[in-house]
Amino acid sequence: MRGGAAYLAAMAEDFDPARLSADKAARYAELLLEVASVLEGEPDVTARMATVSSMLHHAFDTYFWTGFYVVDPAKGNELMVGPYQGTLGCLRIPFGRGVCGAAAAERRTLIVEDVDAFPGHIACDSRSKSEVVTPVFDKSGALIAVFDVDSDRPAAFDAVDAQGIETILKQTFG
Ligand code: SME
Repeated sequence: MRGGAAYLAAMAEDFDPARLSADKAARYAELLLEVASVLEGEPDVTARMATVSSMLHHAFDTYFWTGFYVVDPAKGNELMVGPYQGTLGCLRIPFGRGVCGAAAAERRTLIVEDVDAFPGHIACDSRSKSEVVTPVFDKSGALIAVFDVDSDRPAAFDAVDAQGIETILKQTFG
């Protein structure tokens, strides 16, 4: 019988990043389907964020730190670290500070080719060289988080990454 929690667990185990296409755009398109398949029937936002972080992190060699900074509902203008993969992340980032804070304040995706050239960049890990940060909106259009991907390589991200990530986040949280 195919159904229930055991089946969903089996599907998660079936995810093998080595089987994804080498082409970056195709890889994001395949991940879109894989994420939807693994998360089918799971309404919890934390579970969804943890799953997206893990699947994307392991799908790309360029991803060094991958995760969510969630809007603190008690403050409204401060991000706190959520589910992530990678080395220890900073706990809190005010709106407007660093790349994550800027993406939250401006509600748009920011691609930074050289983090050292970004005013106010927050160096949680000095190995991070470039990043892409994308706002995450819920069904009502409210900002609930940003999705932060840092690379230990300079200029690792481009419009293909931004588009691929935005599409996955919209499908998963919108
Ligand atoms: N890169 C972020 C800070 C968070 S960490 O690097 C995990 C920024 O400057 O917004």
